Amino acid sequence: MKTYRVGIIGLGRMGSTIDDEGHAVKPYSIAACCEVIDQLELVAGSDLQADKRAAFTRRWGVGAVYEDYLEMVAQESLDLVAVCTTASGLFKPANEAPDVNFRGDSHADLTVSLANAGVPMLYVEKAMASSITRADEILKAVKANGTVFNTGVLRRFNESYHAVRRAIAEGEIGEPKAAIHYAASSLMHGHIHSIDTLSFLLGDPKIEAVCGELLPRDFAIENNHIAFDPRATFQLRFENGIESWSVPAGGWEFEVIGTKGCIRSINNGDGIKLRKAGDMVGKRQGWDDAEIAPVEPKSHVVSCLEDLIDAYEQGRPTLGHVEVAHHITEACIAVAESHRRGSSWVNLPLEERDLYIFHV
Ligand SMILES: NC(=O)c1ccc[n+]([C@@H]2O[C@H](COP(=O)([O-])OP(=O)(O)OC[C@H]3O[C@@H](n4cnc5c(N)ncnc54)[C@H](O)[C@@H]3O)[C@@H](O)[C@H]2O)c1
Repeated sequence: MKTYRVGIIGLGRMGSTIDDEGHAVKPYSIAACCEVIDQLELVAGSDLQADKRAAFTRRWGVGAVYEDYLEMVAQESLDLVAVCTTASGLFKPANEAPDVNFRGDSHADLTVSLANAGVPMLYVEKAMASSITRADEILKAVKANGTVFNTGVLRRFNESYHAVRRAIAEGEIGEPKAAIHYAASSLMHGHIHSIDTLSFLLGDPKIEAVCGELLPRDFAIENNHIAFDPRATFQLRFENGIESWSVPAGGWEFEVIGTKGCIRSINNGDGIKLRKAGDMVGKRQGWDDAEIAPVEPKSHVVSCLEDLIDAYEQGRPTLGHVEVAHHITEACIAVAESHRRGSSWVNLPLEERDLYIFHV
């Protein structure tokens, strides 16, 4: 069994400490996941803040810590690098761009640089870029270098959502017609997950057009720049005719309605409700509750990293490969573009690619 050397950039919550927060499925941080995946050896970390580097060394026994990630890459012969910085590159609690010229885009900067430096496997936190122009750069660099790539849209790697996707693909609800996401959410931090999950559940058909609205409704986008991560709602039209909506209430649930039933992922992935058309003869027109096999919980981050390793070894695309991640990022930013155009439908690919949206 070949083992792979891992370095983490950004030694905060996602890189190192998020398991302390009481989330249901563990391990969660990249460092904790390396401890349970035999093929991964955590050998180095990089953070701009000295206290984060020291805490990482204490916690994981990794002495090779660097202020400059490029020095880490040069010194450590890394097979896999996890980009776990904030998207803006600013330290928390910064949650707004300091001025209209600020276009900090740490995930995009690091991903392009790491791909061009020849790191073979990358885990990149979401959203992968803050504008479509920067996402285009990532697409180009990752493809040119043959980098094996996944991002942190982790419902895509969660067994429970896999079970929903499988049931839909196996025809349990007939032909899917509509898909709905339930939760109030910010655009780049939250809806990158909701759009990705809707796409994943439907088998990743292309999104043809997007319609959306930002809050506050009278917010005017100026200078191709949104200085904060706005609340948003959206509609998507997929190429196979399926329509999709985001409802700004509820607790991160997803429902797909088909011609012969519907399936709903409930309580943020904790359970699944399936309803199917039974024997309609002499009955009301309705669907009955149906059995679906229980799902064994597993860390979605472990599954994501295992997918990276397997894709690398087998020479196959990852589940969250760069084309799909780029497309979802474009659809997410298109929600704001639609808002700018009075919430009219906008077709993908977008012509305007420079709109910058700040997020954490
Ligand atoms: N997918 C998920 O479930 C999930 C969960 C938590 C966080 N996240 C994402 O992970 C990212 C990080 O979030 P967090 O909560 O861990 O943030 P955090 O502030 O706890 O950690 C980020 C760290 O990155 C460091 N950093 C910033 N720029 C750097 C650079 N150029 N080089 C080295 N270090 C640098 C900072 O000093 C900080 O310590 C965010 O994009 C967030 O959305 C995803």
